[in-house]
Amino acid sequence: MIYEPKCKIDIEIAADSQISAVDFENIEFGKIFTDHLFECDFKNGAWQTPKIRPYGPISLDPGARVFHYGQAVFEGMKAYKDDDGGVWLFRPEENFKRINKSAKRLAIPEFPENYFFEGMKTLIQMDSSWVKSGLDNSLYIRPYVIATEAAIAAAPSKEYKFVIMCSPAKAYYKGKVKVVFAEQYSRAADGGVGFAKAAGNYAAQFYPTNLANEKGFQQIIWTDANTHEYLEEAGTMNIFFRIGDRLLTAPTNDRILDGVTRKSIIQLAEDFGIPCEVRPVTVKEIKDAARTGELKEIFGAGTAAVVSPISAFEHKGELFELEDLPGSFADKFKNRLVSIQHNAADDEHGWRYRIK
Ligand code: COI
Repeated sequence: MIYEPKCKIDIEIAADSQISAVDFENIEFGKIFTDHLFECDFKNGAWQTPKIRPYGPISLDPGARVFHYGQAVFEGMKAYKDDDGGVWLFRPEENFKRINKSAKRLAIPEFPENYFFEGMKTLIQMDSSWVKSGLDNSLYIRPYVIATEAAIAAAPSKEYKFVIMCSPAKAYYKGKVKVVFAEQYSRAADGGVGFAKAAGNYAAQFYPTNLANEKGFQQIIWTDANTHEYLEEAGTMNIFFRIGDRLLTAPTNDRILDGVTRKSIIQLAEDFGIPCEVRPVTVKEIKDAARTGELKEIFGAGTAAVVSPISAFEHKGELFELEDLPGSFADKFKNRLVSIQHNAADDEHGWRYRIK
């Protein structure tokens, strides 16, 4: 039974499902897409009736403004299936608020709340067999908005397309992650778009990240653009440091993404009685703590990455390795988070959102 949306959505059901061709045990992140796609166009000053249709290409004018100026924002969310077939989202209102915050900064019209929730619920209901149970499985949900008006003048588009697509997922990073602390390149600057999930924020990281990859590191932990002395975020995830039994993480500002996993970990730390200092974190204090052995863990937190332990970091040619820690904070947070997300633990903060 398909969910009955509380707003009008034109629905076309795919004639054939592609699901039988998928090897769910060996999934590469974000390469396989479910049977349906949600689409909604903005034109004549308003969002039009949304539709859900079989997954397939989008047709765009080659002059669409997104191609020239990258006027595009997106979100990352997940759906989880419990052992009884219930399907859940995790704090989706946070993503809804954030996509509209990102949109506003990129001069994109805000998307209506009922279209976002009703569209997502209906789409996931239709493709719910793609959400596999088990704590290491999820359905990654990628809402995005692109500027579609054909025009070359450097100005905001008058037309947009809002899309929600879904992709079955397992871990984003396989194994531990080695990082470099940024010394030269920057991801974001004061007054810029670092806080937004603007497509260009990610493209701008690819070249420096390629350079890091060539040296055997998977990611960069970005530092502040002015001094490169403060550790900010890793682009695909926010970052936590454990010194002794204290956690440190940078405060959000206009350079750092206000991550849903980040804020959930800060809350879980309070629940667990783990002191968590949300304050500027210096490269120096992390290197000093690594030298004295007080630096116990670094881990990333994000929707795709969940909680990803970092095994080593490099700065100014010096490599610091972190030992495997039994009973790590990273494991504790990850276990608790995925249990809440999969309806396998109490949800005392009301984070779960049932869709089936
Ligand atoms: C997410 O965690 O959902 C993100 O958007 C990061 C992305 C680069 C995979």
